Amino acid sequence: MPAPARSLEVAGASVRVFDSAPDACRAAADLVAEAIRSAVRERGRAVLGLATGSTPIPVYARLAELHRAGELSFADVDTYNLDEYYPIAPTDPKGFRAFMHRHLFAHVDLAANRAHLLDGTVPEHAVDEHAAQYDRWIAADGGLDLQLLGIGRNGHIGFNEPSDLPVDRALALPTRPVDLHPATVADAVKDFGAEALVPRRAITVGIAPILAARSIVVLAFGPHKADAVARSLLGPVTAGVPGSLLRHADGPVTWLLDETAARDLDA
Ligand code: GLP
Repeated sequence: MPAPARSLEVAGASVRVFDSAPDACRAAADLVAEAIRSAVRERGRAVLGLATGSTPIPVYARLAELHRAGELSFADVDTYNLDEYYPIAPTDPKGFRAFMHRHLFAHVDLAANRAHLLDGTVPEHAVDEHAAQYDRWIAADGGLDLQLLGIGRNGHIGFNEPSDLPVDRALALPTRPVDLHPATVADAVKDFGAEALVPRRAITVGIAPILAARSIVVLAFGPHKADAVARSLLGPVTAGVPGSLLRHADGPVTWLLDETAARDLDA
């Protein structure tokens, strides 16, 4: 595992700052691989919560490499993806199902019926029940061993956007359909080509099931994430910065950062 340039404890979280994002991603892949191996050893299976976005792509590349090298099997793994645009066509390459297939599922021995994703094609009248059922599936599979997370520039986790909810209500948010924040829509223009083409809604795993994971690994790289990282770790715990709600996680939270994303932690 690449060694961090420095490690710090901030607000109960372990923060590891790396010289480069690729080093941090390698460390993240090692944490995921270790979570798989120890859960399979102890319970015969591992359950992962997976994230999309540009940040974790090298993590998936490294996991695929470990698999190719014969060092990691997904044969006893279930995965639950964190979010999906809504609505989105089943074959849309910008959908997170296609993303996961491209970056991980096509390259490892994960059974197709154990790779769970929120479905951006369910009809409107069924979307609430679909989201609620997703939480029941996670619970029925014994909960998440590890949740991999990125963070939005505005502090969102999954598509849990900033809100003015009281903290206790934010902590209880289940998996559900949501409206996207204007900053999130703006960030998605690079993927969809034009603002008018970005879906305005999504389905996201809620704050409550994220916090219930037995461990959480958050990745953030680049100066554009520095503010969200500092507000999540050093600012008040508030639904206005969903990343700050991670301080109420049930299990350990590890932040893997590069120097630019960690910039404001020393201020
Ligand atoms: C997206 C996703 C999040 C992701 C975040 C950051 O909108 N819903 O799960 O963590 O925004 O994306 P990126 O990694 O591309 O910066």
